[in-house]
Amino acid sequence: MVKICCIGAGYVGGPTMAVIALKCPEIQVAVVDISVPRISAWNSDTLPIYEPGLDEVVKKCRGKNLFFSSDVEKHVSEADIVFVSVNTPTKTQGLGAGKAADLTYWESAARMIADVSKSNKIVVEKSTVPVKTAEAIEKILTHNSKGINFQILSNPEFLAEGTAIQDLFEPDRVLIGGRETPEGQKAIKALRDVYAHWVPMDRIICTNLWSAELSKLAANAFLAQRISSVNAMSALCEATGADVSQVSHAVGKDTRIGPKFLNASVGFGGSCFQKDILNLVYICECNGLPEVANYWKQVIKVNDYQKARFVNQIVSSMFNTVSGKKIAILGFAFKKDTGDTRETPAIDVCKGLLGDKAMLSIYDPQVSEEQIQRDLSMNKFDWDHPVHLQPMSPSSMKQVSVVWDAYAATKDAHGICILTEWDEFKTLDYQKIYDNMQKPAFVFDGRNIVDVAKLREIGFIVYSIGKPLDEWLKDMPAVA
Ligand code: NAI
Repeated sequence: MVKICCIGAGYVGGPTMAVIALKCPEIQVAVVDISVPRISAWNSDTLPIYEPGLDEVVKKCRGKNLFFSSDVEKHVSEADIVFVSVNTPTKTQGLGAGKAADLTYWESAARMIADVSKSNKIVVEKSTVPVKTAEAIEKILTHNSKGINFQILSNPEFLAEGTAIQDLFEPDRVLIGGRETPEGQKAIKALRDVYAHWVPMDRIICTNLWSAELSKLAANAFLAQRISSVNAMSALCEATGADVSQVSHAVGKDTRIGPKFLNASVGFGGSCFQKDILNLVYICECNGLPEVANYWKQVIKVNDYQKARFVNQIVSSMFNTVSGKKIAILGFAFKKDTGDTRETPAIDVCKGLLGDKAMLSIYDPQVSEEQIQRDLSMNKFDWDHPVHLQPMSPSSMKQVSVVWDAYAATKDAHGICILTEWDEFKTLDYQKIYDNMQKPAFVFDGRNIVDVAKLREIGFIVYSIGKPLDEWLKDMPAVA
Protein backbone atom coordinates (compact mmCIF):
# COMPACT_ATOMS: atom_id res chain seq x y z
CA MET A 1 0.00 0.00 0.00
CA VAL A 2 1.35 3.42 -1.00
CA LYS A 3 1.62 5.76 1.98
CA ILE A 4 1.38 9.51 1.63
CA CYS A 5 2.15 11.98 4.37
CA CYS A 6 1.48 15.72 4.12
CA ILE A 7 3.32 18.13 6.41
CA GLY A 8 1.04 21.11 7.10
CA ALA A 9 -2.68 20.70 7.80
CA GLY A 10 -3.74 24.11 6.53
CA TYR A 11 -5.98 25.49 3.78
CA VAL A 12 -4.01 23.54 1.19
CA GLY A 13 -2.80 20.41 3.02
CA GLY A 14 -6.21 19.54 4.55
CA PRO A 15 -8.46 19.75 1.47
CA THR A 16 -5.91 18.37 -1.06
CA MET A 17 -5.16 15.32 1.05
CA ALA A 18 -8.83 14.71 1.83
CA VAL A 19 -9.56 14.61 -1.91
CA ILE A 20 -6.60 12.31 -2.63
CA ALA A 21 -7.87 9.96 0.11
CA LEU A 22 -11.39 10.03 -1.33
CA LYS A 23 -10.28 9.36 -4.90
CA CYS A 24 -7.60 6.77 -4.04
CA PRO A 25 -9.09 4.36 -1.49
CA GLU A 26 -6.04 2.09 -1.67
CA ILE A 27 -3.64 4.86 -0.64
CA GLN A 28 -3.17 5.69 3.04
CA VAL A 29 -2.98 9.43 3.65
CA ALA A 30 -1.74 11.06 6.87
CA VAL A 31 -1.87 14.82 7.36
CA VAL A 32 0.45 16.04 10.09
CA ASP A 33 1.02 19.40 11.74
CA ILE A 34 2.99 20.81 14.65
CA SER A 35 -0.13 22.68 15.72
CA VAL A 36 -1.95 20.34 18.11
CA PRO A 37 -5.16 22.46 18.22
CA ARG A 38 -5.33 22.40 14.42
CA ILE A 39 -5.01 18.60 14.33
CA SER A 40 -7.63 18.24 17.10
CA ALA A 41 -10.00 20.38 15.05
CA TRP A 42 -9.44 18.20 11.95
CA ASN A 43 -10.38 15.21 14.11
CA SER A 44 -13.52 16.92 15.48
CA ASP A 45 -16.93 17.82 14.07
CA THR A 46 -15.85 21.43 13.57
CA LEU A 47 -13.06 21.48 11.02
CA PRO A 48 -10.48 24.26 11.38
CA ILE A 49 -11.34 25.77 8.00
CA TYR A 50 -14.64 26.50 6.27
CA GLU A 51 -14.84 25.27 2.71
CA PRO A 52 -18.05 24.17 0.94
CA GLY A 53 -18.14 20.37 0.51
CA LEU A 54 -15.09 19.72 2.69
CA ASP A 55 -17.01 18.26 5.65
CA GLU A 56 -18.56 15.54 3.49
CA VAL A 57 -15.23 14.51 1.96
CA VAL A 58 -13.49 14.36 5.34
CA LYS A 59 -16.35 12.42 6.94
CA LYS A 60 -16.25 9.80 4.17
CA CYS A 61 -12.52 9.03 4.57
CA ARG A 62 -11.41 10.01 8.09
CA GLY A 63 -10.42 6.95 10.10
CA LYS A 64 -10.42 4.77 6.95
CA ASN A 65 -7.54 5.94 4.77
CA LEU A 66 -7.30 9.56 5.96
CA PHE A 67 -5.69 10.39 9.30
CA PHE A 68 -4.82 13.67 11.00
CA SER A 69 -1.97 13.50 13.51
CA SER A 70 0.52 15.62 15.38
CA ASP A 71 2.98 12.72 15.44
CA VAL A 72 4.85 14.30 12.54
CA GLU A 73 8.00 12.18 12.65
CA LYS A 74 6.26 8.79 12.75
CA HIS A 75 4.12 9.46 9.68
CA VAL A 76 6.95 11.08 7.72
CA SER A 77 9.26 8.15 8.38
CA GLU A 78 6.62 5.65 7.20
CA ALA A 79 5.63 7.51 4.02
CA ASP A 80 6.67 6.82 0.41
CA ILE A 81 5.59 10.27 -0.76
CA VAL A 82 5.90 13.31 1.53
CA PHE A 83 4.07 16.48 0.54
CA VAL A 84 5.27 19.68 2.19
CA SER A 85 2.48 22.22 2.49
CA VAL A 86 3.75 24.48 5.24
CA ASN A 87 3.34 28.25 5.26
CA THR A 88 5.85 30.33 3.28
CA PRO A 89 5.29 33.86 4.60
CA THR A 90 6.95 37.09 3.53
CA LYS A 91 10.14 37.82 5.49
CA THR A 92 9.62 40.50 8.13
CA GLN A 93 13.29 40.96 9.05
CA GLY A 94 16.74 40.87 7.53
CA LEU A 95 17.76 40.49 3.91
CA GLY A 96 14.76 40.84 1.59
CA ALA A 97 12.39 41.85 4.41
CA GLY A 98 8.93 42.79 3.11
CA LYS A 99 9.52 40.92 -0.17
CA ALA A 100 11.39 37.63 -0.03
CA ALA A 101 9.77 34.37 1.04
CA ASP A 102 10.60 33.24 4.56
CA LEU A 103 11.54 29.59 4.13
CA THR A 104 12.18 28.89 7.83
CA TYR A 105 9.22 26.52 8.06
CA TRP A 106 10.12 24.78 4.83
CA GLU A 107 13.75 24.30 5.81
CA SER A 108 12.90 22.90 9.21
CA ALA A 109 10.45 20.47 7.57
CA ALA A 110 13.18 19.37 5.12
CA ARG A 111 15.72 18.84 7.89
CA MET A 112 13.19 16.82 9.86
CA ILE A 113 12.46 14.62 6.81
CA ALA A 114 16.19 13.94 6.45
CA ASP A 115 16.49 13.16 10.17
CA VAL A 116 13.67 10.66 10.46
CA SER A 117 13.79 8.91 7.06
CA LYS A 118 14.84 5.27 6.91
CA SER A 119 13.65 4.54 3.35
CA ASN A 120 13.72 6.24 -0.06
CA LYS A 121 11.18 9.02 -0.47
CA ILE A 122 9.64 11.35 -2.98
CA VAL A 123 9.43 14.82 -1.44
CA VAL A 124 6.82 17.06 -3.05
CA GLU A 125 6.81 20.86 -2.82
CA LYS A 126 3.16 21.76 -2.42
CA SER A 127 3.78 25.14 -0.82
CA THR A 128 4.37 28.07 -3.16
CA VAL A 129 8.10 28.67 -3.11
CA PRO A 130 10.65 30.84 -4.93
CA VAL A 131 12.18 29.40 -8.09
CA LYS A 132 15.15 27.18 -7.28
CA THR A 133 13.90 26.26 -3.79
CA ALA A 134 13.93 22.61 -4.85
CA GLU A 135 17.68 22.88 -5.35
CA ALA A 136 18.15 24.12 -1.77
CA ILE A 137 15.86 21.42 -0.41
CA GLU A 138 17.69 18.79 -2.44
CA LYS A 139 20.99 19.94 -0.90
CA ILE A 140 19.63 19.77 2.64
CA LEU A 141 18.23 16.30 2.04
CA THR A 142 21.19 14.81 0.18
CA HIS A 143 23.78 16.20 2.60
CA ASN A 144 21.91 14.57 5.48
CA SER A 145 20.68 11.50 3.64
CA LYS A 146 22.57 8.60 5.27
CA GLY A 147 22.43 6.83 1.90
CA ILE A 148 18.69 7.31 1.39
CA ASN A 149 17.53 8.47 -2.04
CA PHE A 150 15.28 11.54 -2.13
CA GLN A 151 13.60 12.73 -5.29
CA ILE A 152 12.23 16.27 -5.20
CA LEU A 153 9.14 17.20 -7.16
CA SER A 154 7.36 20.51 -7.50
CA ASN A 155 3.58 20.14 -7.51
CA PRO A 156 2.18 23.63 -6.84
CA GLU A 157 -1.45 23.91 -5.82
CA PHE A 158 -3.87 25.99 -7.90
CA LEU A 159 -7.05 25.61 -5.80
CA ALA A 160 -8.94 28.77 -4.87
CA GLU A 161 -10.40 29.12 -1.39
CA GLY A 162 -14.19 29.02 -1.40
CA THR A 163 -14.19 26.57 -4.32
CA ALA A 164 -11.33 24.33 -3.16
CA ILE A 165 -13.20 21.03 -3.32
CA GLN A 166 -14.66 21.73 -6.74
CA ASP A 167 -11.23 22.86 -7.97
CA LEU A 168 -9.61 19.69 -6.62
CA PHE A 169 -12.28 17.41 -8.11
CA GLU A 170 -11.97 19.01 -11.54
CA PRO A 171 -8.69 20.88 -11.79
CA ASP A 172 -7.92 22.92 -14.92
CA ARG A 173 -4.50 21.30 -14.69
CA VAL A 174 -2.19 19.48 -12.32
CA LEU A 175 1.43 20.53 -12.67
CA ILE A 176 4.31 18.22 -11.76
CA GLY A 177 7.92 19.30 -12.13
CA GLY A 178 10.90 17.03 -11.61
CA ARG A 179 14.50 16.37 -12.51
CA GLU A 180 15.15 15.27 -16.09
CA THR A 181 17.02 12.16 -14.90
CA PRO A 182 15.64 8.58 -15.03
CA GLU A 183 15.03 8.70 -11.23
CA GLY A 184 13.35 12.11 -11.56
CA GLN A 185 11.09 10.84 -14.34
CA LYS A 186 10.20 7.76 -12.28
CA ALA A 187 9.18 10.00 -9.39
CA ILE A 188 7.06 12.16 -11.71
CA LYS A 189 5.30 9.02 -12.91
CA ALA A 190 4.61 7.86 -9.35
CA LEU A 191 2.89 11.16 -8.51
CA ARG A 192 1.11 11.29 -11.86
CA ASP A 193 -0.34 7.85 -11.10
CA VAL A 194 -1.89 9.25 -7.91
CA TYR A 195 -3.65 12.10 -9.74
CA ALA A 196 -4.56 9.85 -12.68
CA HIS A 197 -7.13 8.19 -10.37
CA TRP A 198 -9.47 11.07 -11.24
CA VAL A 199 -7.72 13.70 -13.38
CA PRO A 200 -7.66 13.12 -17.17
CA MET A 201 -4.11 12.58 -18.44
CA ASP A 202 -4.23 15.60 -20.77
CA ARG A 203 -4.68 17.80 -17.73
CA ILE A 204 -1.58 16.54 -15.97
CA ILE A 205 1.33 18.66 -17.14
CA CYS A 206 4.86 17.42 -16.50
CA THR A 207 7.74 19.90 -16.69
CA ASN A 208 11.18 20.49 -15.27
CA LEU A 209 11.42 21.66 -11.65
CA TRP A 210 12.05 25.33 -12.33
CA SER A 211 9.18 25.71 -14.79
CA ALA A 212 6.77 24.20 -12.27
CA GLU A 213 7.96 26.48 -9.47
CA LEU A 214 7.84 29.60 -11.62
CA SER A 215 4.48 28.73 -13.21
CA LYS A 216 2.74 29.01 -9.85
CA LEU A 217 4.17 32.47 -9.16
CA ALA A 218 3.38 33.51 -12.74
CA ALA A 219 -0.22 32.26 -12.55
CA ASN A 220 -0.90 34.21 -9.36
CA ALA A 221 0.78 37.32 -10.76
CA PHE A 222 -1.38 37.15 -13.92
CA LEU A 223 -4.57 36.67 -11.88
CA ALA A 224 -3.81 39.57 -9.55
CA GLN A 225 -2.81 41.70 -12.51
CA ARG A 226 -6.27 41.23 -14.04
CA ILE A 227 -7.91 42.48 -10.85
CA SER A 228 -5.61 45.49 -10.66
CA SER A 229 -6.25 46.21 -14.34
CA VAL A 230 -10.02 46.29 -13.93
CA ASN A 231 -9.70 48.23 -10.68
CA ALA A 232 -7.52 50.83 -12.37
CA MET A 233 -10.26 51.12 -15.01
CA SER A 234 -12.88 51.52 -12.28
CA ALA A 235 -11.27 54.78 -11.15
CA LEU A 236 -11.35 56.08 -14.71
CA CYS A 237 -14.99 54.96 -15.08
CA GLU A 238 -15.99 57.00 -12.04
CA ALA A 239 -14.18 60.03 -13.44
CA THR A 240 -15.79 59.77 -16.87
CA GLY A 241 -19.28 58.40 -16.26
CA ALA A 242 -18.56 55.00 -17.82
CA ASP A 243 -19.81 51.87 -16.02
CA VAL A 244 -17.06 49.37 -15.17
CA SER A 245 -19.43 46.37 -15.45
CA GLN A 246 -20.31 47.37 -19.00
CA VAL A 247 -16.66 47.95 -19.84
CA SER A 248 -15.65 44.54 -18.35
CA HIS A 249 -18.43 42.80 -20.23
CA ALA A 250 -17.40 44.37 -23.53
CA VAL A 251 -13.70 43.68 -22.93
CA GLY A 252 -14.28 40.11 -21.73
CA LYS A 253 -16.24 39.19 -24.87
CA ASP A 254 -12.92 39.16 -26.71
CA THR A 255 -12.04 35.47 -26.63
CA ARG A 256 -8.35 36.37 -26.28
CA ILE A 257 -9.19 38.07 -22.96
CA GLY A 258 -12.17 36.06 -21.68
CA PRO A 259 -14.85 37.07 -19.18
CA LYS A 260 -13.53 35.64 -15.90
CA PHE A 261 -11.86 37.56 -13.09
CA LEU A 262 -12.90 40.96 -14.42
CA ASN A 263 -15.05 42.20 -11.53
CA ALA A 264 -14.04 45.54 -10.07
CA SER A 265 -13.82 45.56 -6.28
CA VAL A 266 -12.26 47.18 -3.27
CA GLY A 267 -9.15 45.10 -3.99
CA PHE A 268 -7.75 41.60 -3.91
CA GLY A 269 -6.78 39.81 -0.71
CA GLY A 270 -5.98 36.32 0.48
CA SER A 271 -2.79 34.74 1.63
CA CYS A 272 -1.21 34.31 -1.80
CA PHE A 273 -1.48 37.11 -4.35
CA GLN A 274 0.47 39.82 -2.58
CA LYS A 275 2.98 37.44 -1.03
CA ASP A 276 3.67 35.66 -4.31
CA ILE A 277 4.06 38.87 -6.31
CA LEU A 278 6.43 40.33 -3.71
CA ASN A 279 8.37 37.13 -3.97
CA LEU A 280 8.44 37.38 -7.77
CA VAL A 281 9.60 41.00 -7.53
CA TYR A 282 12.41 39.97 -5.20
CA ILE A 283 13.53 37.18 -7.50
CA CYS A 284 13.58 39.61 -10.46
CA GLU A 285 15.65 42.08 -8.46
CA CYS A 286 18.07 39.36 -7.40
CA ASN A 287 18.46 38.36 -11.04
CA GLY A 288 19.26 41.91 -12.16
CA LEU A 289 15.87 42.56 -13.77
CA PRO A 290 14.64 45.82 -12.18
CA GLU A 291 12.27 46.70 -15.07
CA VAL A 292 10.48 43.36 -14.73
CA ALA A 293 10.36 43.79 -10.94
CA ASN A 294 8.84 47.27 -11.25
CA TYR A 295 6.24 46.04 -13.71
CA TRP A 296 4.87 43.50 -11.21
CA LYS A 297 5.24 45.84 -8.23
CA GLN A 298 2.68 48.09 -9.88
CA VAL A 299 0.00 45.39 -9.48
CA ILE A 300 0.31 45.70 -5.70
CA LYS A 301 0.48 49.49 -5.81
CA VAL A 302 -2.82 49.67 -7.70
CA ASN A 303 -4.36 47.31 -5.16
CA ASP A 304 -3.25 49.56 -2.29
CA TYR A 305 -4.49 52.60 -4.23
CA GLN A 306 -7.94 51.01 -4.65
CA LYS A 307 -8.32 50.38 -0.90
CA ALA A 308 -7.16 53.91 -0.04
CA ARG A 309 -9.49 55.38 -2.67
CA PHE A 310 -12.42 53.50 -1.14
CA VAL A 311 -11.72 54.83 2.36
CA ASN A 312 -11.28 58.31 0.94
CA GLN A 313 -14.60 58.09 -0.84
CA ILE A 314 -16.35 57.12 2.39
CA VAL A 315 -14.84 59.91 4.44
CA SER A 316 -15.28 62.63 1.82
CA SER A 317 -18.91 61.62 1.16
CA MET A 318 -19.78 61.80 4.83
CA PHE A 319 -18.93 65.49 5.18
CA ASN A 320 -15.19 64.83 5.40
CA THR A 321 -15.32 63.12 8.76
CA VAL A 322 -16.46 59.81 10.18
CA SER A 323 -15.31 60.64 13.70
CA GLY A 324 -17.72 59.13 16.23
CA LYS A 325 -20.03 57.86 13.46
CA LYS A 326 -21.18 54.27 13.46
CA ILE A 327 -20.21 52.49 10.24
CA ALA A 328 -21.46 48.98 9.55
CA ILE A 329 -18.94 46.67 7.93
CA LEU A 330 -20.67 43.82 6.11
CA GLY A 331 -18.16 41.08 5.37
CA PHE A 332 -14.60 40.72 6.64
CA ALA A 333 -13.32 37.57 4.88
CA PHE A 334 -11.24 38.23 1.77
CA LYS A 335 -13.96 36.65 -0.38
CA LYS A 336 -17.24 34.81 0.02
CA ASP A 337 -17.50 31.18 1.11
CA THR A 338 -14.37 31.26 3.24
CA GLY A 339 -13.61 32.35 6.78
CA ASP A 340 -10.06 33.26 5.75
CA THR A 341 -9.08 36.85 6.53
CA ARG A 342 -5.43 36.78 5.51
CA GLU A 343 -4.62 40.04 3.67
CA THR A 344 -8.34 40.80 3.36
CA PRO A 345 -8.94 44.34 2.05
CA ALA A 346 -11.31 44.72 5.02
CA ILE A 347 -8.27 45.10 7.28
CA ASP A 348 -6.95 48.15 5.42
CA VAL A 349 -10.39 49.69 4.98
CA CYS A 350 -11.24 49.24 8.68
CA LYS A 351 -7.85 50.58 9.75
CA GLY A 352 -8.37 53.60 7.48
CA LEU A 353 -11.78 54.31 9.00
CA LEU A 354 -10.49 53.75 12.54
CA GLY A 355 -7.73 56.25 11.76
CA ASP A 356 -10.48 58.77 11.18
CA LYS A 357 -12.06 57.73 14.53
CA ALA A 358 -15.09 55.88 13.15
CA MET A 359 -17.04 53.44 15.34
CA LEU A 360 -17.17 50.11 13.49
CA SER A 361 -19.83 47.44 13.82
CA ILE A 362 -18.66 44.39 11.91
CA TYR A 363 -20.59 41.36 10.73
CA ASP A 364 -19.25 38.41 8.76
CA PRO A 365 -21.05 35.04 8.63
CA GLN A 366 -17.82 33.05 9.01
CA VAL A 367 -15.26 35.17 10.87
CA SER A 368 -15.04 35.20 14.67
CA GLU A 369 -14.71 38.29 16.85
CA GLU A 370 -11.35 37.07 18.12
CA GLN A 371 -10.00 36.80 14.58
CA ILE A 372 -11.23 40.28 13.62
CA GLN A 373 -9.74 41.88 16.74
CA ARG A 374 -6.46 40.08 16.11
CA ASP A 375 -6.35 41.15 12.45
CA LEU A 376 -7.00 44.78 13.28
CA SER A 377 -4.19 44.96 15.82
CA MET A 378 -1.57 42.95 13.94
CA ASN A 379 1.42 44.33 12.03
CA LYS A 380 1.67 43.71 8.29
CA PHE A 381 2.98 40.21 7.43
CA ASP A 382 2.80 38.94 11.04
CA TRP A 383 -0.39 37.00 10.30
CA ASP A 384 1.34 34.16 8.46
CA HIS A 385 3.44 33.10 11.42
CA PRO A 386 2.41 30.70 14.19
CA VAL A 387 0.27 32.22 16.94
CA HIS A 388 3.11 32.05 19.47
CA LEU A 389 5.22 34.35 17.25
CA GLN A 390 2.42 36.88 16.85
CA PRO A 391 2.06 39.93 19.15
CA MET A 392 0.88 39.00 22.66
CA SER A 393 -2.91 38.90 23.07
CA PRO A 394 -3.72 42.22 21.41
CA SER A 395 -6.15 44.33 23.43
CA SER A 396 -9.54 44.49 21.79
CA MET A 397 -10.37 47.87 20.33
CA LYS A 398 -13.12 49.90 21.90
CA GLN A 399 -14.05 51.44 18.56
CA VAL A 400 -14.81 47.99 17.13
CA SER A 401 -17.77 45.78 17.92
CA VAL A 402 -18.43 42.48 16.21
CA VAL A 403 -22.06 41.41 15.87
CA TRP A 404 -23.74 38.29 14.51
CA ASP A 405 -26.32 39.80 12.21
CA ALA A 406 -26.36 42.40 9.41
CA TYR A 407 -29.40 44.13 10.96
CA ALA A 408 -27.64 44.61 14.31
CA ALA A 409 -24.56 45.92 12.51
CA THR A 410 -26.54 48.51 10.55
CA LYS A 411 -28.89 49.71 13.32
CA ASP A 412 -28.33 53.44 13.95
CA ALA A 413 -25.38 53.43 11.56
CA HIS A 414 -24.56 56.40 9.33
CA GLY A 415 -23.11 54.25 6.60
CA ILE A 416 -22.69 50.66 5.39
CA CYS A 417 -19.58 49.26 3.71
CA ILE A 418 -19.93 45.97 1.89
CA LEU A 419 -16.50 44.40 1.83
CA THR A 420 -17.21 40.71 1.05
CA GLU A 421 -19.61 39.49 -1.64
CA TRP A 422 -21.54 37.06 0.60
CA ASP A 423 -24.80 36.05 -1.15
CA GLU A 424 -26.87 36.92 1.92
CA PHE A 425 -25.98 40.62 1.50
CA LYS A 426 -27.81 40.66 -1.83
CA THR A 427 -31.14 39.72 -0.29
CA LEU A 428 -31.18 41.79 2.91
CA ASP A 429 -34.30 43.83 3.64
CA TYR A 430 -32.71 47.16 2.74
CA GLN A 431 -35.94 49.09 3.43
CA LYS A 432 -35.89 47.84 7.02
CA ILE A 433 -32.17 48.64 7.26
CA TYR A 434 -32.75 52.16 5.89
CA ASP A 435 -35.55 52.81 8.37
CA ASN A 436 -33.22 51.97 11.27
CA MET A 437 -30.26 54.08 10.12
CA GLN A 438 -29.21 57.69 10.65
CA LYS A 439 -29.98 59.99 7.72
CA PRO A 440 -28.62 60.63 5.20
CA ALA A 441 -27.91 56.90 4.96
CA PHE A 442 -24.95 55.79 2.84
CA VAL A 443 -24.05 52.48 1.22
CA PHE A 444 -20.51 51.97 -0.06
CA ASP A 445 -20.54 48.78 -2.07
CA GLY A 446 -16.99 47.48 -2.40
CA ARG A 447 -18.12 44.38 -4.31
CA ASN A 448 -20.82 45.73 -6.62
CA ILE A 449 -23.49 43.33 -5.39
CA VAL A 450 -26.42 45.60 -4.44
CA ASP A 451 -29.17 46.78 -6.75
CA VAL A 452 -28.13 50.42 -6.94
CA ALA A 453 -31.36 51.72 -8.49
CA LYS A 454 -33.51 49.99 -5.87
CA LEU A 455 -31.40 51.29 -2.99
CA ARG A 456 -31.49 54.84 -4.38
CA GLU A 457 -35.27 54.56 -4.64
CA ILE A 458 -35.41 53.63 -0.95
CA GLY A 459 -33.41 56.77 -0.18
CA PHE A 460 -29.83 55.56 0.23
CA ILE A 461 -26.89 57.49 -1.16
CA VAL A 462 -25.01 54.71 -2.94
CA TYR A 463 -21.39 54.47 -4.02
CA SER A 464 -20.54 51.47 -6.19
CA ILE A 465 -17.03 50.91 -7.44
CA GLY A 466 -16.55 52.05 -11.03
CA LYS A 467 -20.22 53.02 -11.51
CA PRO A 468 -21.62 56.41 -12.48
CA LEU A 469 -21.58 58.50 -9.33
CA ASP A 470 -24.59 59.43 -7.24
CA GLU A 471 -25.50 63.14 -7.62
CA TRP A 472 -24.50 63.55 -3.97
CA LEU A 473 -20.98 62.29 -4.60
CA LYS A 474 -20.28 64.11 -7.85
CA ASP A 475 -18.81 67.20 -6.25
CA MET A 476 -16.61 65.16 -3.96
CA PRO A 477 -13.89 63.55 -6.06
CA ALA A 478 -12.03 60.86 -4.14
CA VAL A 479 -8.32 61.46 -4.31
CA ALA A 480 -6.17 58.88 -2.58
P1 NAI B 1 -1.61 27.42 6.43
O1 NAI B 1 -0.93 28.44 7.26
O2 NAI B 1 -3.10 27.31 6.46
O3 NAI B 1 -1.04 25.96 6.78
C1 NAI B 1 0.30 25.68 6.97
C2 NAI B 1 0.41 24.71 8.14
O4 NAI B 1 1.76 24.23 8.21
C3 NAI B 1 0.11 25.32 9.50
O5 NAI B 1 -0.97 24.64 10.11
C4 NAI B 1 1.44 25.15 10.29
O6 NAI B 1 1.22 24.85 11.66
C5 NAI B 1 2.06 23.98 9.57
N1 NAI B 1 3.50 23.87 9.74
C6 NAI B 1 4.46 24.83 9.61
N2 NAI B 1 5.69 24.32 9.80
C7 NAI B 1 5.53 23.00 10.07
C8 NAI B 1 6.43 21.92 10.37
N3 NAI B 1 7.75 22.12 10.39
N4 NAI B 1 5.91 20.70 10.62
C9 NAI B 1 4.58 20.49 10.58
N5 NAI B 1 3.68 21.46 10.30
C10 NAI B 1 4.14 22.70 10.05
O7 NAI B 1 -1.11 27.67 4.93
P2 NAI B 1 -1.86 27.32 3.56
O8 NAI B 1 -2.84 28.38 3.19
O9 NAI B 1 -2.32 25.90 3.60
O10 NAI B 1 -0.66 27.47 2.53
C11 NAI B 1 0.40 26.53 2.50
C12 NAI B 1 1.22 26.81 1.25
O11 NAI B 1 0.41 26.62 0.09
C13 NAI B 1 1.76 28.24 1.16
O12 NAI B 1 3.03 28.18 0.56
C14 NAI B 1 0.78 28.93 0.23
O13 NAI B 1 1.38 29.98 -0.47
C15 NAI B 1 0.41 27.80 -0.73
N6 NAI B 1 -0.92 27.93 -1.34
C16 NAI B 1 -2.00 28.37 -0.63
C17 NAI B 1 -3.25 28.46 -1.24
C18 NAI B 1 -4.43 28.96 -0.47
O14 NAI B 1 -5.46 29.20 -1.09
N7 NAI B 1 -4.37 29.12 0.84
C19 NAI B 1 -3.46 28.06 -2.64
C20 NAI B 1 -2.27 27.56 -3.26
C21 NAI B 1 -1.05 27.52 -2.63
